[in-house]
Amino acid sequence: MEFVINGGKKLFGSVAIECAKNAILPIMAASLLCRGKVVLPECPKISDVVSMTEILFFLGADVKLDDDLLIDASNVENKLIPVKLSKKLRASILLLGALLARFKKARITYPGGCDIGLRPIDLHLKAMKELGVEIEENHGVINCSAENLHGGVVVFDCVSVGATENLILLSVMGKEKVALVNVAREPEVVDLCNFLNMCGANIVGAGSSEIVIDPVDKLNGVRYFVMKDRIVAGTYLLAGAITGGSVEVRGVMPQYLTSFIKKMCQSGCFLDVNGDKIKLRSGLALNSVGFLETNVYPGFPTDLQAPFLALQCVSRGDCVIKENIFDSRFKFVLELIKMGAKVNVNGRLAFVEGGLLSGAEVWASDLRGGAALVLAGLNASGYTKVHNAGYILRGYENLDKKLSELGAEIKLN
Ligand code: EPZ
Repeated sequence: MEFVINGGKKLFGSVAIECAKNAILPIMAASLLCRGKVVLPECPKISDVVSMTEILFFLGADVKLDDDLLIDASNVENKLIPVKLSKKLRASILLLGALLARFKKARITYPGGCDIGLRPIDLHLKAMKELGVEIEENHGVINCSAENLHGGVVVFDCVSVGATENLILLSVMGKEKVALVNVAREPEVVDLCNFLNMCGANIVGAGSSEIVIDPVDKLNGVRYFVMKDRIVAGTYLLAGAITGGSVEVRGVMPQYLTSFIKKMCQSGCFLDVNGDKIKLRSGLALNSVGFLETNVYPGFPTDLQAPFLALQCVSRGDCVIKENIFDSRFKFVLELIKMGAKVNVNGRLAFVEGGLLSGAEVWASDLRGGAALVLAGLNASGYTKVHNAGYILRGYENLDKKLSELGAEIKLN
């Protein structure tokens, strides 16, 4: 599948933002711990969510994805998830914490996920071992036993969203209190903890660098409205900026995008925040922001680095972008260069010189890099074809339809 875009059209209008992929996925893993039904209203039908439903279904859960996502994990069994399923997404590793919490044993294979670096799981496994989990790896299968799970204090060597979430899932129904230190503060982690507390868990400190979990005996299924996707929201605002238009996103929590909003103002755009809406009006001329570096929350989100770099390619001046989170998140730049972008990459640094883009055939190789190519196509003169659209459909629901409603000339073939 590919997106075909005829660029140069200014985008105008308002778009409702879908629920956050990176909050839904850990909450889906958490649903394995709940007695009774979990209902997640307005769940986006993106392929990562579909992949996770396939895994839960394989384990024996009753899963239905209509407008709402319904999960009943009553009949779940402890099975080895086949590689063909676990390899589809990074979040499959979160099932390790959930299965260990429920069955005290689990076997899992290495997760998949976007090709943006090595993405090891050493932080997950090291922290689990510190709480008494016995882990043996052979032939690509990780065999774990939590028969001797105990409480204690785990200090992460570096901040990891997934490792934080995995250890919360492992500990929420454990035997003794657990303190997790140097944890991820991302809003999606907070949403997972809010969900679990609504189910009856006892977790404090979410959003800070220390989370304390007082284990409980059971969790009940609930109806939970997942937070909206701040990365999708940022991507649509960038679509307004890169086309010289004016786009509003609604249903979001603007405070989750503070560092991004600041950078968009520096680029010469005008942004109004009003309740759950952010309205962007593109500046007459887009200016380079000079320097940008990604960081853990509340720093500039790594998932908006690629879409933002596309904007810098058509902004006046030079910009240096530093990717501090992943070790190889500039692969998409090779494709941008086919469109006339002037970018030099050296390790974790990208040196961008603003200029003009022209349409070309390009290939996505990850979710956010693919989104950056679509944004570049919206700006470029002439036609752009973004191949491997499947990567982009992992995290953006109805992207072509929503962009068309804003005035873009884009089709998904
Ligand atoms: C989550 O990935 C998100 N995915 C990513 O979004 C996001 O970019 C990332 O957090 C950072 O915010 C989901 O939530 C499903 P990490 P995760 O563990 O958990 C290294 C998207 O586009 N690390 O915080 O995998 C790792 O290699 C995706 O929606 C270890 O070294 O990210 C990376 O360099 C992409 N050992 C850094 O830490 C470990 O055991 C941060 O990774 C774990 C991670």
